Amino acid sequence: MNAPLPSESLAAGLPLAPHPPVSEPVIRIEGLSKTFSDAAGPVLDDVSLQIARGDIYGVIGRSGAGKSTLVRCINRLERPSGGRVVVSGHETSRLEGRALRTARRDIGMIFQHFNLLSSRTVAGNVALPLEVARVPKAERGPRIAALLELVGLADKAQAYPSELSGGQKQRVGIARALATAPSVLLCDEATSALDPETTQQILALLRDINRRLGLTVVLVTHEMEVVRDIASHVAVLERGRLVEEGATFDVLAFPKSPVARSFLAGIVAHELPPEIQATLSPEPQADSDPVIRIVFTGAAANEPIVADLVGRFGLRPNILHGRIDQVAGRPLGVLTLVAGDGGDGRLAAALAHLARLGLHAEVIGHALRPALARRHGGPR
Ligand SMILES: Nc1ncnc2c1ncn2[C@@H]1O[C@H](COP(=O)(O)OP(=O)(O)OP(=O)(O)O)[C@@H](O)[C@H]1O
Ligand SMILES: [Mg+2]
Repeated sequence: MNAPLPSESLAAGLPLAPHPPVSEPVIRIEGLSKTFSDAAGPVLDDVSLQIARGDIYGVIGRSGAGKSTLVRCINRLERPSGGRVVVSGHETSRLEGRALRTARRDIGMIFQHFNLLSSRTVAGNVALPLEVARVPKAERGPRIAALLELVGLADKAQAYPSELSGGQKQRVGIARALATAPSVLLCDEATSALDPETTQQILALLRDINRRLGLTVVLVTHEMEVVRDIASHVAVLERGRLVEEGATFDVLAFPKSPVARSFLAGIVAHELPPEIQATLSPEPQADSDPVIRIVFTGAAANEPIVADLVGRFGLRPNILHGRIDQVAGRPLGVLTLVAGDGGDGRLAAALAHLARLGLHAEVIGHALRPALARRHGGPR
């Protein structure tokens, strides 16, 4: 949906007053652990992270890594076994009863399968959290109208969920999640049941809401494209542990953990072709050439580096793989090439030159020449 959002009706202060930017993290998780009584080991193990107000924060990891459990501990759908979760100053991990219900109004959630009530109209679904929060009836109508306008469904108020597309159902889910004017929106695989085009529309809506209202969005997803396109920070979970965390661009450009690297293989070219990977060794061998990975970020992308390697350093680079992606709105290029050194230090000088240009270049191993020759379709 690209229609403008009704910021005037929002500014009127009814359901959704913009949240002021505050430097204090809106979500603080400290040493969080969770063990289910019937599970072998901890599902979450000593997870600590902070999420800044107004951020779009991605959480990725393999199936069963504990992503859903993590977000469910944030809104206390699950009770942590240890550690602390603080949301907007409320320690949700300790609250009970009424105090917990009040704190939960500050945390909206949307789901992969939307979880709408089929017996209620669109307006009736959005009304539900307002009824639970005992918002007076006279106030509900205008709030629901503003929320449906926000998500682009003003004309569907009286429709039933069965009459809606998947994308429209998720818009209802978003309107319902925002009904109590939360400062945090948790999204658990919110676009995983949608086709790519509808996914883009829902992401655009989430980004618009994030920007206009300062809403903090926590996005659990197995779709790396979603993280690449809209998350400014990302956490990588592996078997309940936080293995990597940081600005999306940095994690995608320089993933440290094997799980992050394998996850990102589909969207950033960090993985070598398998037949070359298989012959890669950390040390030079009798019949091998060094394989170099160059990561370009920002302005250095304009440098004529292959020409430099040839002209200034007398190397004969052979490109194995290369691509450029947009990550968090910035170009990220990865180029993998092989270049014989001749043993005279030319390669080291070339790498130092690339480093001076602000490129990240490293020898990632040594590949056997026959494997390289096969890849290029003939003897070298
Ligand atoms: N209520 C529960 N009782 C027992 N075990 C559970 C419960 N909920 C989750 N688990 C276990 O905790 C682990 C993590 O589950 P979780 O749903 O958080 O993973 P996930 O990363 O969201 O996976 P997916 O990508 O498949 O959604 C799994 O091994 C799961 O079986
Ligand atoms: Mg899950």
